[in-house]
Amino acid sequence: MSPSESTVLVVDLGAQYAQLIARRVREAHVYSEIVPHTITAAEVAERRPGAIILSGGPKSVYEERSPGIDPAIYELGIPMLGICYGAQLMARDLNGTVTATGRGEYGRTTLSATTSSRLLDAWPTESVVWMSHGDSITAAPEGAIALATTPEAPVAAFADDERRRYGVQFHPEVAHTDRGQELIATFLHDLAGLAPTWTNVSIIEAEVAKIQAQVGSERVLCALSGGVDSAVAAALVYKAVGHQLVCVFVDTGLMRANEADQIEETFRNQFHVDLIHVKAADRFFDALDGVTDPERKRKIIGELFIRIFEEVARDLGAGTGAEGPRFLVQGTLYPDVIESGSGHAANIKSHHNVGGLPEDLDFDLCEPLRALFKDEVRAVGEELGLPENLVWRQPFPGPGLAVRIVGEVTRERAEILRNADAVVVDEIRKAGLYRELWQSFAVLPAVRTVGVMGDARTYAYPIVIRAVTSDDAMTADWARLPYDLIETIANRLINEVDGVNRVALDVTSKPPGTIEWE
Ligand code: XMP
Repeated sequence: MSPSESTVLVVDLGAQYAQLIARRVREAHVYSEIVPHTITAAEVAERRPGAIILSGGPKSVYEERSPGIDPAIYELGIPMLGICYGAQLMARDLNGTVTATGRGEYGRTTLSATTSSRLLDAWPTESVVWMSHGDSITAAPEGAIALATTPEAPVAAFADDERRRYGVQFHPEVAHTDRGQELIATFLHDLAGLAPTWTNVSIIEAEVAKIQAQVGSERVLCALSGGVDSAVAAALVYKAVGHQLVCVFVDTGLMRANEADQIEETFRNQFHVDLIHVKAADRFFDALDGVTDPERKRKIIGELFIRIFEEVARDLGAGTGAEGPRFLVQGTLYPDVIESGSGHAANIKSHHNVGGLPEDLDFDLCEPLRALFKDEVRAVGEELGLPENLVWRQPFPGPGLAVRIVGEVTRERAEILRNADAVVVDEIRKAGLYRELWQSFAVLPAVRTVGVMGDARTYAYPIVIRAVTSDDAMTADWARLPYDLIETIANRLINEVDGVNRVALDVTSKPPGTIEWE
C-alpha cells in the first residue's frame, strides 16, 4: 500500500516500543510504518501521513544527545500522539514543562481522570495503566489541557483538541494498560479521523495488485520451506499471477513428520499450484555421512540446498533470459527491514530459512510480505485458506532436524527424532499449548543409556524435551510444562518410539543456552 493519508508514522525514539505501537495501530485497522526520529519535516510532509505517533524511549529529554524530532514537524498540522518519552518531548518542545522529580513510576499504577475529554472519553474515572518513567510532565504543552494524573505523574495525559495534539505518560500499547487499545483506536478513528480500512482483505487486495504490477507476465519461482512465511508468500503470489508461479520444495529428509505431505496436499491438491517436489534425502544423508561438527552440518546442508535449487531453476530456464523465471519470492517480513531509531540501515534477514540464495542466478526479488508483521502474515494465510496447522506452525530452523541431532546425522537417527518430535508436538497440541509456546520439540543426544523393558535390558537413546517461551528468539525461557503432560509425553516416547528408552527435560533458558542444541 502506498504511503498516503491513511498511513500512521510511528517515530522511533528508542527502539523498545515502536514495533509494538505500530502493531497496535494495525490492530486498529490503520496502516502504520516505523520511521527513525531523524526524519525531517519535509520527508514527513512528502509521505502525507494521516497521523504521527511519537514512541517511548529510554532517555530523559534533558540528557545530552537524547533523541528529538525536527521541530517543524509540529507545524505540519498532522494529528499527533506522544507516548511516554514522546509525550515528554512534546511537553518540552511545545512550552510545557518536564521535571526530574526524582520519583519515577515503573509498572502498574492507577490513572485518575481530572477532566472529561475526547481522548479518554470511554474511560472510568479510575483505571489501571502501565508506567515506566523517571521524569514527569509537570505542565502540559501550551494550548493543551491536563486530563489525568497518577500518584507520581501530575500530567499523565494531555490534549490540545484544536491542534489535535495528544500525549499520554503511560503505555497504551502494552496489555497491562486496561483500555490501551481503545485509546489508540480513539486517537486514530475519532480524533485523527482515519478510517479502519487496513484489514486482511484489504492487505491481500493491495499485495495482489502490487505483485501483478511488479511481475507482469514474467514467471516467478518460490522455494517452499514448510514454514509459514514462504507458504503465505507463495499463496499470495499464486492468487496474483496463478500459473506464472512455480514452487519448489526440496525434501532434505530432515523435515518434521508429515511436512512434505502437507505441502503436497495444500499446494498441489488444494491450490493447484505448479509444484516441483525434489526428493533429495539420499543426497543430504550422503553429504552428512560421518559429519558431527554443528557448523559443518549447517554449511553442508545450506550449500547442498542451494545447489539443488539451482539445478531446478536452471532446468526451468532461469538465468537464460527468454522463458525462464525472472523473479524469486522471498518471505522477508517488516521487522526484517525496519530502520530503527538509531538510524541504522535496514537489517536484512540473516537466517534465511532455506539457507541462502543462489548467488549467480540473476533473479529480481518479489517480497510480498515486506510490509507485514508476523501476526498479519498468519491472518492473511488464514484468509487465503491455508490450513490452520500450517499457518500456526512454530519456527523451524533451515537445517531442519540436523541441528537437533547431536553427533552424526543418519537416516535412522533422523527417523527416531522425527517420530519423537511428532509425539511431543501432538501432546503439546492436545494440551492446548502449541500456539502459546515459541517452540516445543524433541532433541536426540549422542549418547545411549541402559534401561530395562520387560525382562530385558535395553541400550538406547534418551530424548530431551525442549520447550520455550519467547517473543523473538533473542531470549527465551524454558516452559514450565505441567508434570502430567511431561509424564504423558515421556510414556508415549518410550512406548511408541523405537530406539528410545529414557526421557529428559531441558530446563535451560536463553541465555545461557540456545534454543536449538546445535
Ligand atoms: P538458537 O538456537 O540460536 O535459535 O537460540 C534461535 C532461533 O533461530 C532458529 N535457528 C535457525 N534458523 N537456520 C534457521 O533458519 C539456522 O541455522 C538456525 N539455527 C537456529 C531456532 O529454531 C530459533 O527459533
